Amino acid sequence: MKSKHYQEFNHDEDAPTYDQIDLNDPIRHGYYEVLDWTIEQAAISSDDVVLDLGTGTGNLSKLIQSCKQLICVDISNNMMEIAKTKLVHLPQVEFVFEDVLAYFGESRPQFDAIISTYTLHHLIEDEKQIFFQKVFDQLNPGGRAVFGDLMLESKTVEPDFIKKYRDQGLEGVAQAFEEEFFWYVDSAVTGLERVGFSVEAKRFSDLSWAISAKKL
Ligand SMILES: C[S@@+](CC[C@H](N)C(=O)[O-])C[C@H]1O[C@@H](n2cnc3c(N)ncnc32)[C@H](O)[C@@H]1O
Repeated sequence: MKSKHYQEFNHDEDAPTYDQIDLNDPIRHGYYEVLDWTIEQAAISSDDVVLDLGTGTGNLSKLIQSCKQLICVDISNNMMEIAKTKLVHLPQVEFVFEDVLAYFGESRPQFDAIISTYTLHHLIEDEKQIFFQKVFDQLNPGGRAVFGDLMLESKTVEPDFIKKYRDQGLEGVAQAFEEEFFWYVDSAVTGLERVGFSVEAKRFSDLSWAISAKKL
């Protein structure tokens, strides 16, 4: 099953400018810290098989020092073409053009680490909950899933955030809440724990958080 909005969030047109990152933009503030923490928590060794969901231009996977195999999933060919140039230091890299929700299943490898940054806010809330079970099933025992993304501590604070950004004249940020599906940390933590993960959440800026989930 593909995610409901996958066609809208293909980043082909953004690819040429995606890496011009404005850290003053609330959407991008904390970006590099989130990537670093995601890689730290994923604790990838040279024997590990790794999945990066929504690889984009490869900024997350390029931080992997070594692994046995890396599979990069995205629906944007233009983003993946840029990623290819950043991942030449890794031995076995495969690029799969597929929706992040549809990727999973018995025909896919079992992974030691599943990582993703700034992509899963394109899944609606119900899809995120389905996704958590798929991730758990696709991980080996001892596996790590780490997600960095745009998140709020709970749905209840969303109207305050929208108002805050509108008051600051940041209409684009306010609109992003209405057009995309930022995570709610409380329900994500509950959903991840429900499927069996041990979970830690950490905040890096107003909107950037990361969640580390371990399959014990
Ligand atoms: C904002 S970029 C993030 C890229 C990278 N992970 C990073 O942190 O810079 C989101 C990426 O996810 C891809 N994407 C969006 N929705 C997707 C989906 N449903 N399935 C697969 N890829 C998706 C986009 O094409 C884009 O390359």
